[in-house]
Amino acid sequence: MRGKFIALEGPDGSGKSTMMNLINQYLVEHHIDHIITREPGGTAIGEKIRHLIVDRDNANMGPETEALLFAASRAQHIHEKILPALEQGKTVVCDRFLLSSLAYQGVGRGLGIGEVKAINDFGLRGIYPDLILFFHVDPEITLLRKTKEGGDRLEAEGGIFHREVYEGYMTLLKKYPENITLVDAAKPIEEVYKQTIEAIDNLLRFKEEKR
Ligand code: TYD
Repeated sequence: MRGKFIALEGPDGSGKSTMMNLINQYLVEHHIDHIITREPGGTAIGEKIRHLIVDRDNANMGPETEALLFAASRAQHIHEKILPALEQGKTVVCDRFLLSSLAYQGVGRGLGIGEVKAINDFGLRGIYPDLILFFHVDPEITLLRKTKEGGDRLEAEGGIFHREVYEGYMTLLKKYPENITLVDAAKPIEEVYKQTIEAIDNLLRFKEEKR
């Protein structure tokens, strides 16, 4: 049976990376055959693309180029890593996926959700997460947490961009609510962890029952 695909989504500074590590530990402890991966990147080719995207020297990159590079990195990720792992019955946990492109490029860069979805669909091969954990934090909090140090080319964008991205996510939650679980990431880490694991348990238990 095909494995389950879990994606983590949320604005910069929503604590996804910390939660990724804890999810990994949890799956290891419970002997769940899984892989942990991230976007942009996840493959050798994808990591090269990631480097191009986040490099602050590439200040004059056009928004369309940026969107196509994210889509290219994702297509390679699906081809080389996500689809083969799912076909081997593994659970795949990915830090960011399609919704990031729809929020950051579609809304943040103003390219349009439909337009960005269309260029991504080409490489998706029908793959969509079985569970999207959306880490919700008010943008005022995340901006304080994240942009203090300057960050990469996208993180270094100003508050207006990140507010647009946040509004974009809010639109997407209504437009594509399927498989999305909202996690209140402003809560203490123990509470965020509890909400996260509950959603993962529900998904994986469902898988056991279907077998
Ligand atoms: P990421 O490494 O996930 O940043 P962080 O770990 O700090 O959340 O992603 C790098 C940046 O790329 C981040 O600002 C989000 C952005 N991004 C997009 O704009 N579009 C996308 O499709 C993806 C996957 C990420």
